[in-house]
Amino acid sequence: MRYRRLGNSELQVSEISLGSWLTFGVTVDRDQAGACLHRAFDLGINFVDTANMYGRGAAESLLGELLSPYRRDAYVLATKAYYPMSETDRGLSRVQIKKQIDASLMRLRTDYVDLYQCHRYDHDTPLEETMEAMSEVVAAGKARYIGFSQWSPRRIKAAHKLDHVTRFVSSQPQYSMLYRKPERKVFSLCKKLGIGQIVWSPLAQGVLTGKYAPHQPPPAGSRAAHRKIGRKTRRFTDDNVLAAVQNLRPIAERLSLSMSQLALAWVLKEESVSSAIIGASRPEQIEQNVGAVGVKLDTATVREIDDVLHGVVRH
Ligand SMILES: NC(=O)c1ccc[n+]([C@@H]2O[C@H](COP(=O)([O-])OP(=O)(O)OC[C@H]3O[C@@H](n4cnc5c(N)ncnc54)[C@H](OP(=O)(O)O)[C@@H]3O)[C@@H](O)[C@H]2O)c1
Repeated sequence: MRYRRLGNSELQVSEISLGSWLTFGVTVDRDQAGACLHRAFDLGINFVDTANMYGRGAAESLLGELLSPYRRDAYVLATKAYYPMSETDRGLSRVQIKKQIDASLMRLRTDYVDLYQCHRYDHDTPLEETMEAMSEVVAAGKARYIGFSQWSPRRIKAAHKLDHVTRFVSSQPQYSMLYRKPERKVFSLCKKLGIGQIVWSPLAQGVLTGKYAPHQPPPAGSRAAHRKIGRKTRRFTDDNVLAAVQNLRPIAERLSLSMSQLALAWVLKEESVSSAIIGASRPEQIEQNVGAVGVKLDTATVREIDDVLHGVVRH
């Protein structure tokens, strides 16, 4: 494993990290989730991402149980708040942030997280209030650092300009070979501000592993085949996208990489990226995916990938 510094923080995070959206406490049972987490740690992954809303607390609760045997300083733990947790609990007001961090810490069985993130921008709360409340969480020792997910450049700048508040150290955007929007402005802006990128769905929810063939039903047991969550993958399971992705296979084979390793090496070539947060439904996926660490893609290969995916990439 290799490690990168997260923005201006003192956190060193593994280039591949483990997330828990749609998996822990939702579609992956306790034993399998435990096997994934233990394998991840064995392979040198030290960074775990979750959110209060994943399974409405279920992901955090399961992680809390599974992480409890480990020394707290052996891993970097990130969670988030913003999305509804009940009819009345939502958003990033001071009251909500104070309530949600305490609930997250209780479920995670710890007295601090390393990174507390605003899961989205809260348009119903003044930015000052959100930032002051996030700063108070840090001052109380309940989080070491703060970050955001999917904020616009305008909001990122506005937060940075505020006086007397804790500065963000991380940005969590969606980023993959198929989804490149943060390249336009967010990466360069964050670089100037000392904010690192921890990117989500680097495998486009599994589509970039090549396991979904165009004009075929998704393989049994895959995320796209799942009765409840399958629809979440729809943005990437269009037949044109799936056909283009299949054309990456010869590139991966030439480099003796799996398709997932090629996709993750592509994300990690971006120096703004501190970590690629993968999901996994079984430990073997993590084993395969960490094989991307240390792989360098040359300019010709990167250009070839661009040609193959031309027309299906979201910029
Ligand atoms: N901030 C946000 O708004 C936000 C949004 C989404 C996600 N996230 C974070 O990012 C994390 C990752 O998101 P994601 O799960 O969509 O990431 P992803 O890595 O793009 O997709 C993960 C899924 O792909 C499949 N997969 C992974 N490796 C594979 C392999 N080697 N071979 C075959 N299939 C493989 C597995 O699904 P199956 O085996 O079930 O097919 C796995 O659960 C989340 O857990 C969460 O922490 C954040």
